[in-house]
Amino acid sequence: MLDVESIRDDFPILGIKANGRPLVYLDNAATMQMPLPVRQALQYHYEQVNANVHRGTHYLSHESTKAYEEARETAVRFLNAPSQRNIVFSTGTTGAINTVALGLRDYVQRGDIVVATVLEHHSNFVPWQQLCLEKGAQFKVVGIDQKGDLDLDELKRVVTGGAKIVACTCCSNVLGAVTPVHDVVKIAHEAGALCLLDAAQGIRHGVLDVQELDCDFLAFSGHKLGAPTGIGVLYGKSKALELLKPAWFGGEMVDIVTTEKTTWEELPLRLEPGTPNYVGAIGLGAALGYLEFVGRKEASAYEDELIAYAVKRLSEIDGMHIYGDPIHRSGCVSFNVEGVHPFDLCTLIDKMGVALRSGNACAQPLLSALGCTAVARLSPAFYNSFEEIDAAVSTINRGALMLRN
Ligand code: ALA
Repeated sequence: MLDVESIRDDFPILGIKANGRPLVYLDNAATMQMPLPVRQALQYHYEQVNANVHRGTHYLSHESTKAYEEARETAVRFLNAPSQRNIVFSTGTTGAINTVALGLRDYVQRGDIVVATVLEHHSNFVPWQQLCLEKGAQFKVVGIDQKGDLDLDELKRVVTGGAKIVACTCCSNVLGAVTPVHDVVKIAHEAGALCLLDAAQGIRHGVLDVQELDCDFLAFSGHKLGAPTGIGVLYGKSKALELLKPAWFGGEMVDIVTTEKTTWEELPLRLEPGTPNYVGAIGLGAALGYLEFVGRKEASAYEDELIAYAVKRLSEIDGMHIYGDPIHRSGCVSFNVEGVHPFDLCTLIDKMGVALRSGNACAQPLLSALGCTAVARLSPAFYNSFEEIDAAVSTINRGALMLRN
């Protein structure tokens, strides 16, 4: 049982007023707020430790490097990765997926099949689409069923043509549909394809064990779990990471540079060119530690209860249309109210202190499959309360009535 009251003390921003009303922050799928221990870790680093990493011989440089590599070790434990070699720090999920897609530019050849799903955020869709366009490869998109769950039969049909890569989200950032990732990985591997999982939304929901999942790559962003923005993780099996041809070049990622040629540093450094966002990584380590402290399973189970409650309460609103009814909904719910544009609704309820996201949620192919161009999205985190869901629902109801009349 989570002690939500005391957890909230770690998030002072939840106590502010927005537009003169108590803030009800339910846009956690876009970004989660930062807990005090993460901010303290950042402050401590800048005040007591700061220096560039992997470069200097002086005291601070050693200490800073140690803290950076400790953060990597925290990510190793969090994902149950085999070793530090398998954890590449990136700018976020988008950066991580682009590192993979660009890194596979020689691996994917004309006519090859690359598979994504219609549930993907643009960041796990556009890089593959563009790679295919550039290489003359075939980009195939697997659909969903009536309830919004991934169509595994279609996935099986599509990959048997000889897919090279299967890219799939762990959890839709629109429907909250949790995908059967074990099945996805198995289907990809049976077809001889590499499998990349986008865990941007999935990382806070349940426990992701990369060795048990057996995925080749997994990407997530720190800011979805309370770390600063601009830092994320690309996990890869050693063999999969070795396939990647670096796309960005510079300091740190090289071994020997001569006028004629350059050789690369060992993993993971060859994929971390330039000065890394080491303070961000240290913040990420602190955020992972905080989530462990709160209890990953407990936080995730509580968020699922909040989402189930939000779906039930939202359904009571006249003219409400909730998108999807997946087997397991986690993290968010998207909806529209008949006769009301979601942008107008979210702008109006913002004036009453309620923060939701509106728009295409960076998932235009999915919205198009759902038959709309914009949604309102409510996404709780483990620091939200049932009372806040009630407050949001009654504000949404009020806003919809005002806009319709
Ligand atoms: N990916 C984030 C979202 O879905 C920004 O809102």
